[in-house]
Amino acid sequence: MKALWTVAAAAIGAAAYGLSRPGVRATLREDLDTVRRRDPAATNDFVSMVSYPGMHAIWAHRGLHRLWQNDSTKVPARLMSQAVRTLTGVEIHPGAQIGRRFFIDHANGVVIGETSEIGDDVMLYHQVTLGGTSMEQTKRHPTIGNHVLVGAGAKILGPVVVGDNSSVGANAVVVKDVAADSSAVGIPAKVRPYKNRTDPEAAGSDVGDSRSPYADFELIDPAIWI
Ligand SMILES: CC(C)(COP(=O)(O)OP(=O)(O)OC[C@H]1O[C@@H](n2cnc3c(N)ncnc32)[C@H](O)[C@@H]1OP(=O)(O)O)[C@@H](O)C(=O)NCCC(=O)NCCS
Repeated sequence: MKALWTVAAAAIGAAAYGLSRPGVRATLREDLDTVRRRDPAATNDFVSMVSYPGMHAIWAHRGLHRLWQNDSTKVPARLMSQAVRTLTGVEIHPGAQIGRRFFIDHANGVVIGETSEIGDDVMLYHQVTLGGTSMEQTKRHPTIGNHVLVGAGAKILGPVVVGDNSSVGANAVVVKDVAADSSAVGIPAKVRPYKNRTDPEAAGSDVGDSRSPYADFELIDPAIWI
């Protein structure tokens, strides 16, 4: 019991220290604003902070991605990412490169492979796979541009590129590149330029860097401190 209190006190101390650092606070603020912007149901920051497993998986990934950069900490990074998968239902390989204001709604069943690259302002729904099609240890997972939305259940397979401002429809299976400003729907996905953009928020293109109040700060992962 005493050990438990010690761990709890250390965790609270680390959180307080972390939150006293402006970079960590700004990152946390940006993340919580992203939740609000992406999910109309999110109205309370405290509730968002504790109840979005997609956000928890992203925070953990930022810390684990740092560990992945060092050969001696690759194994712990991989093991911890599996623990995060158990806790959040989201499997992000620690090698995956992910930009800012990334959001995973509903979280469960998302898989993001080792050589995936994800730009800024990307949103995924549950059951999305960014998967590989090759057993070679080369670039074998997708590259997702900025302001991309990937609908629930979509599978994007192989080293394909999804261009900026594009959307992948729910349950689509994408095996070829998707041009910028397009939507890809169906199995196999057919790509077509946007017909109409009545709901830019839903299409994932709402938050340009130029409009972001956070464009200039260095991203520091809250998970490092909490
Ligand atoms: C693809 C999507 C982003 C819309 O993109 P869009 O370019 O604005 O598409 P439109 O609504 O203009 O539809 C274009 C065509 O694609 C079809 N289409 C749209 N989404 C589709 C989908 N997921 N699967 C198959 N066809 C789809 C439309 O019926 C339409 O067909 P038509 O040209 O024959 O009329 C959207 O339909 C979607 O799938 N969003 C994901 C939402 C989601 O996963 N929500 C989960 C909440 S829990």
